[in-house]
Amino acid sequence: MTSHFGAAAALSFALALSACGSPPADKASDTASTAASATPAATDTGTATTAAAGAAPAAFAQCAACHSTEKGKMGVGPSLAGVYGTKSGEITGYAFSDAMKGANLTWDDKTLDEYLSNPMKMVPGTKMTFAGLTDPAQRKDVIAYLKTLK
Ligand code: HEC
Repeated sequence: MTSHFGAAAALSFALALSACGSPPADKASDTASTAASATPAATDTGTATTAAAGAAPAAFAQCAACHSTEKGKMGVGPSLAGVYGTKSGEITGYAFSDAMKGANLTWDDKTLDEYLSNPMKMVPGTKMTFAGLTDPAQRKDVIAYLKTLK
């Protein structure tokens, strides 16, 4: 009787250990960071009109539907990590349209401002099917945010 009780106690102790062991905990934090980056701006900065350093401006929620801000992570569109200062169609690991590959633009304040106001007008044939940000202040906020993405 006593030995049976001892085994049961040992078993439940082992279960408790494995429940808080480190491999499951690591996995949980991986999942959490993936989930957090999939929807960066929509909820927590919804009321901000001007972004604090590093935080996505409210208007970026529209971009986040198609673009991740994590390097190497592609969505409908390419990751926007490090896009500022690159040439159009240059992000590796993404299948750009011929229109974007041939656009020969360098993404800076001026080109991004024009592109984001009406993508399909500046790069006819682009597969970024987004009508554009008509508010110059929103474009400014979004471009400032793009600069911070490394
Ligand atoms: C409906 C999905 C969608 C939305 C919304 C969207 N994009 Fe895109 N974006 C794309 C796709 C797809 C491409 C690739 C275009 C191509 O290859 O023609 C792209 C390309 C780009 C590029 C060019 C990348 C490069 O390396 O040349 C930039 C910059 C960009 N998007 C920024 C934005 C920003 C900023 C917003 C929000 C204001 C936004 N996009 C909203 C789908 C989207």
